[in-house]
Amino acid sequence: MNVIHLSAECYPVAKVGGLGDVVGALPKYLNSLGINACVVLPYYDRKFVRESNFETVYEGCGKLGHQKFDFIILKEITDKLGFPLYLIKIPGLLDRQEVYSYPDETEQFVAFQLAFLEWMVQTNNEPDVIHCHDHHTGLIPFLVSHSSLYNSLKNVPTICTIHNGEYQGWIGWDKVSYLPEIDLSKSGLLDWGGCINSLATAVKCCWRFTTVSPGYLKELSVNSNGLELLFQMEEKKGIGIINGIDTQVWDPKTDERLIKNYDVKSFTAGKKENKKHLCNQFELNADLPLIVFIGRLVGEKGADLLPEIIKQTFKAYQNKVSILILGSGEKIIEKELLSLKAKYKKQFALFIGYDEDLAHRIYAGADFILMPSRVEPCGLNQLYSLRYGTLPIVNNTGGLGDTIIDFEEANGYGILFDHAAVSDAMTAVARAITLYNDEKKLSLIRKKMMNLNFSWDKSAKEYIQLYKSLIKEKHGL
Ligand code: GLC
Repeated sequence: MNVIHLSAECYPVAKVGGLGDVVGALPKYLNSLGINACVVLPYYDRKFVRESNFETVYEGCGKLGHQKFDFIILKEITDKLGFPLYLIKIPGLLDRQEVYSYPDETEQFVAFQLAFLEWMVQTNNEPDVIHCHDHHTGLIPFLVSHSSLYNSLKNVPTICTIHNGEYQGWIGWDKVSYLPEIDLSKSGLLDWGGCINSLATAVKCCWRFTTVSPGYLKELSVNSNGLELLFQMEEKKGIGIINGIDTQVWDPKTDERLIKNYDVKSFTAGKKENKKHLCNQFELNADLPLIVFIGRLVGEKGADLLPEIIKQTFKAYQNKVSILILGSGEKIIEKELLSLKAKYKKQFALFIGYDEDLAHRIYAGADFILMPSRVEPCGLNQLYSLRYGTLPIVNNTGGLGDTIIDFEEANGYGILFDHAAVSDAMTAVARAITLYNDEKKLSLIRKKMMNLNFSWDKSAKEYIQLYKSLIKEKHGL
């Protein structure tokens, strides 16, 4: 079975968030289970790309409105990711350093999708399934069904996985001419709220859409940045499949980024050593409980609550707890955190930016990770933390609620709170500090967490079931 994944991100080629982790891991696991899964990505001028070997497998040209563009398809030749990787390079459009945030993002991602389809059609390639990820690839399900240029792909089942419904790929109707030879009577399928909405289009036109946790699927019908009604109408097409983690990359026993490796038998000494090193680096006291936050500093992740949580924590537990934050995002939050760093020099440390190596070392060295997310489609940080014996303190939303059971419940191992609010988070922090002082109990919980299995093996099988059912459906079975 041939499955093509299309995405804007794929670790380690280009990662901004969890999307990159998923697309860098799921296809690998699919291949190990006998599926020919490859990834098609825009070309990025990044370290991984510069240091890898590619061959050109196709050269073509496309049209974005009246503007012609040339593109080439490059294939990584050593198969070092565990799946074939293809990059679409369009000089001037898809050959840049950053993944997002260019003013011509619409042109970039529309051209990406058109080039992909052109390549498929010209090479008579008819995959068994086209698997799109997020809005950047959301027009494909529409184009294969309603543009005469891509008739040869009309019967190919399409899946769209929603990693984040907050961003939807809005495109003004003035740019509809970018979409070639489309059946205009179907243009309603492109529209949501008066503009072309790539994510809404994907949901309407794909054969199935998946969300990265069952909890998030339910949530989209009541909270999805304007698409609630659409998700209510299309509910039957939705399936929630929880993400896994790549246990080859995320394993404290083998992780080369750690100061000391450890496993479920040696975590006490292992985590202690990693914590000591981490605290030294950030000039924190390694004897105190260490609570961390890793991620984008945006409202969606509840990062705007952090300054107040920090203030209240240090007010209540002066010199009894340390906090470390790794991330970047909204400038106003960054600024507030920087000023708190100046105030609480010995207890609070901050790294504005993102550093993958440091993230691994933080998971290993921390005691608790705080995730006060308002929206969390799946969340991977809590899963990495579990594997590294770091206890997640999470708001009960989306995938967080699906993966974390409060330690007071039967078989529990984390700390859950019910609202993304400072007061709820503070109650949770208080419980964490009490737990930290009960070494025996915490140790038992850590052991339980590290024994959990959130590897991709199980979820990859669920995707395979889905692929198989769609292929059957295609053949009218
Ligand atoms: C997005 C979501 C996150 C999810 C990830 C991978 O980054 O915000 O919750 O885990 O995608 O699916």
